[in-house]
Amino acid sequence: MNVSPDELHNQDRHWSRHAKRYDEVFLDPYGPEVVNPLWAALEAIPDARSKTIADLGCGTGPLLPHLAARFGRVLALDFAPGMLERARARLDAEAADRVTFLARPMHELNDLAGQVDVALAVSSLVMPDVRVIDRTLRSIRGMLRTGGQFLGIVPSIDAIAYHVMVLYDLALERGLPPKDAERQASAQAERRYYDFVFGRFHYQGLRQKFWQPFEIQHRLARAGFADVRLDKVLYPWEDVLADGEDLSAYPRSWDWFFQAGCADAGSRSVS
Ligand SMILES: C[S@@+](CC[C@H](N)C(=O)[O-])C[C@H]1O[C@@H](n2cnc3c(N)ncnc32)[C@H](O)[C@@H]1O
Repeated sequence: MNVSPDELHNQDRHWSRHAKRYDEVFLDPYGPEVVNPLWAALEAIPDARSKTIADLGCGTGPLLPHLAARFGRVLALDFAPGMLERARARLDAEAADRVTFLARPMHELNDLAGQVDVALAVSSLVMPDVRVIDRTLRSIRGMLRTGGQFLGIVPSIDAIAYHVMVLYDLALERGLPPKDAERQASAQAERRYYDFVFGRFHYQGLRQKFWQPFEIQHRLARAGFADVRLDKVLYPWEDVLADGEDLSAYPRSWDWFFQAGCADAGSRSVS
C-alpha cells in the first residue's frame, strides 16, 4: 500500500513538534471530570492477559501504563519520534517488558495481519486526507483477529458547531446585536480554523480531520467493520473553551467514542 509523502502532508514532523507542549495544546480525554466510555469498554474485554492490544497513534503514551497492567502484549505505534520518546519515558521496567514500540504510520500494518485482539485509536484518526484514513481503517481491520474489537475516540466537528451556537445564544442574551454576537461567537470558538463541510481543522501547520457521527459509521462500515456503536466523551466546559465557566448551564461538549467489531471474515492482508 503506497501513501505518498504528499498525502501525509509532513504531519509526522508537525506532531513531533507538538510533543513537548502536548498537554497544554490538546484536550485530555482521561481527566477526572471527563465522562469517557473507553474505560468501561476496556474493562469489559474478557481475559485481557491473554490478549494483544495495539495503541495506534499512542502519542505521549498516557494509556500505556494502564494497558500494560491489564493486557498480555501491547503494541504502541506512532509515526512521530518525538511522541514515542515521551511515551517510552512513562514506563517502568515491568511495563516496558510488555510493550513493543513501532515508529511508523498506522496504515502500515500488513506484517501484523490477524495478530491483534483489540485495536485502539484515541484522537489519532485525524489524517487530513480521507484516502489515508480509508486505507488506515482497512489496515486496522486486517490486523484484527476474528472476533476482535476496534475502539477509538475521534474529534467531533458537530461539537464545534455546537460551541458556536451556545456562544452565539449567550452573546444575544447579554444584549449584543446579532452581527456582533456572531462575530464574537465565531472568534471565541475559533471558527476560522475549521472547515465544517469537509470536517477539517488547520492550525500552525497541523492539519486534522474532525468527524461527523454519520461519517464514522460510513467509513468504518466501508472498511469492513460491523456493529459500529457511538457514544459521547463528555468534557467539562472549562477544558474546552477559555470562557467555559459561563457555559455551565448548557449540556457539555463532546468527542465521539466508537466501538466496532469484525466478527465475520477473520484475518486478511491488506493491499
Ligand atoms: C492527538 S494525539 C493522541 C495521542 C494519544 N492517543 C492520546 O490519547 O493521548 C494524536 C497522535 O496520533 C499520531 N498520528 C497521527 N496520524 C498518524 C498516522 N497516520 N500514523 C501514526 N501516528 C499518527 C500523532 O503523532 C499523535 O501522537
